[in-house]
Amino acid sequence: MEGSEIKDNNPGAPEVFEEYWGKMENHLRSRYSEGNILRYNEYTMYLLNTLIEELTSQNSAYHAVELGCGRGDSSLFFAKRGWQTVLVDLSEVVLHIAKQNFIDQGLSCLRVKADIRNTPFNESEFDVVMNYGVLEHFKDPTDPLAEMFRILKPGGMLFATVVYTKRINLQTLVDWLYHIPGTFIMNLFIKRRPKMALKYIKGYLGFNDELYENELNLEDYLSIMEKIGLSQFHIMPFVTIPYLRLPSYFEKLYVGLIRAYCRVKRRVTKRHPLCAVWGGRRQWLIYGRKPSL
Ligand SMILES: C[S@@+](CC[C@H](N)C(=O)[O-])C[C@H]1O[C@@H](n2cnc3c(N)ncnc32)[C@H](O)[C@@H]1O
Repeated sequence: MEGSEIKDNNPGAPEVFEEYWGKMENHLRSRYSEGNILRYNEYTMYLLNTLIEELTSQNSAYHAVELGCGRGDSSLFFAKRGWQTVLVDLSEVVLHIAKQNFIDQGLSCLRVKADIRNTPFNESEFDVVMNYGVLEHFKDPTDPLAEMFRILKPGGMLFATVVYTKRINLQTLVDWLYHIPGTFIMNLFIKRRPKMALKYIKGYLGFNDELYENELNLEDYLSIMEKIGLSQFHIMPFVTIPYLRLPSYFEKLYVGLIRAYCRVKRRVTKRHPLCAVWGGRRQWLIYGRKPSL
């Protein structure tokens, strides 16, 4: 199939996501495209990449699919490292954005418009099946996880991050003490955009939550992973060090410190630095393997 083609397998994208992407302010910009490991988001993906390499004990020429790809920036990160990535989303708007992000980096990707609970792929097609920040939007993520399992090759790896905005952790504290007042002050007094300032605060207080978020816990996910047949499955907090919005120079300094911390942590614990203690960012990482035949 040709790189920029959209296969329409499931018309009728939920308006909520279409609208969500339609009004995102910087939706065109990929978060992981600078090739700079000292940017927080890129460093996080870099850590994930090293974890995937360790778990699969291969170098990264994977045939992978990202389900619920959004802007496609996670796939873009991996595509820049040689992965062959297929992007799936129900939103046409965002698939177009993803295409643009790939083109900006001189890359192409196959985009498929489909429901991630029912994709057009054959059984056992991919080495890696992944999604980031998608499962929490399903009341019951069994169906998307079962579909991920179905299209995974025996021995292949499934990865997903689950984001929870409503739980209290270190990131919540950083947001309350730093991001919320900082953005409010910036919008109100410096950019002189009082409406934006108010919208931002309302968003944090949960008044304009547009997207549904389930309230499943770690045990719920573990039992689903067992039910669908994954082996060697695991769930863990993803990234201990909170995100801090900083001017570029300070961000590099901050990420430099995180890198040093991760190196020391690795030496002391002998585990991958993503295998973290509870408290950091509001995400979990789920992974597991499809048993070999
Ligand atoms: C919160 S966004 C996360 C996007 C991206 N993975 C990221 O990390 O930025 C969730 C994405 O899943 C897509 N999505 C939600 N339900 C879906 C479904 N049933 N089938 C396909 N895509 C879906 C939405 O359109 C949206 O792009």
